[in-house]
Amino acid sequence: MSLEIRTFRIEDYEQAFRLWSSTEGVALSDADSRDGIERFLVRNPELSFVALDAGSVVATLLCGHDGRRGWIHHLVVARAYRERGLARALVQRALASLRDAHIDKCHLLVFRDNDPGQAFWRRVGAQERVELKMFSLRVPNDDGTIER
Ligand SMILES: CC(C)(COP(=O)(O)OP(=O)(O)OC[C@H]1O[C@@H](n2cnc3c(N)ncnc32)[C@H](O)[C@@H]1OP(=O)(O)O)[C@@H](O)C(=O)NCCC(=O)NCCS
Repeated sequence: MSLEIRTFRIEDYEQAFRLWSSTEGVALSDADSRDGIERFLVRNPELSFVALDAGSVVATLLCGHDGRRGWIHHLVVARAYRERGLARALVQRALASLRDAHIDKCHLLVFRDNDPGQAFWRRVGAQERVELKMFSLRVPNDDGTIER
C-alpha cells in the first residue's frame, strides 16, 4: 500500500464529505457545504491535507488560521487505515504549515464523549484546556432573524 499526503484540493471534497459523513465523532454543518469548504481552502491555502491510497481519500485534516491562532477541523482517518501514524503525519504537516505562516499555537475541538479522539490528541501532545468553556454566537441575517 503506498499512501500519499498532499494539500487538500476542492476536487477532493466529495470523497472527503463521504468520509466525514460516515465517521463517528465528526459533526457536520452548513459550513461543510462544497462552497463553504472552497471558501475555507481559498482563505487558508496550503494548510489542509488529505492522505490518498491509489487516488482515494483515506484521511483528511482541515487547518486554517486567523492571523493569530490556528484551528484544526475534521481530522479523520478511515477505519481501515488507523493506528499506522496517518493522523500524526497529517497533524505534523499542518503544524509545519502554520509555522511557515508565523502562527505558534493552534486549537481544536473534540466532543466531550469522544474518548478515542481525546486519547489521540493527548498522545500527540495536545494540552486539554480545562479552564475554558466554548461559547458560540450565530451571526444574524440582514433582517435580524437568527438561524437555529
Ligand atoms: C483519532 C484518529 C484521527 C486517529 O487516527 P490514526 O491515524 O489512527 O492515529 P495515529 O496512528 O497517527 O496515532 C498517533 C498516536 O496516537 C495513538 N492513538 C491513535 N488513536 C488512539 C486511540 N483511539 N486511543 C489511544 N491512542 C490512540 C496511536 O497509538 C499513536 O501513538 P504512538 O505514536 O505512540 O504509536 C482516528 O481514530 C479517527 O479518525 N477517529 C474518528 C474521528 C475523530 O475522532 N477525530 C479526532 C477528533 S477531532
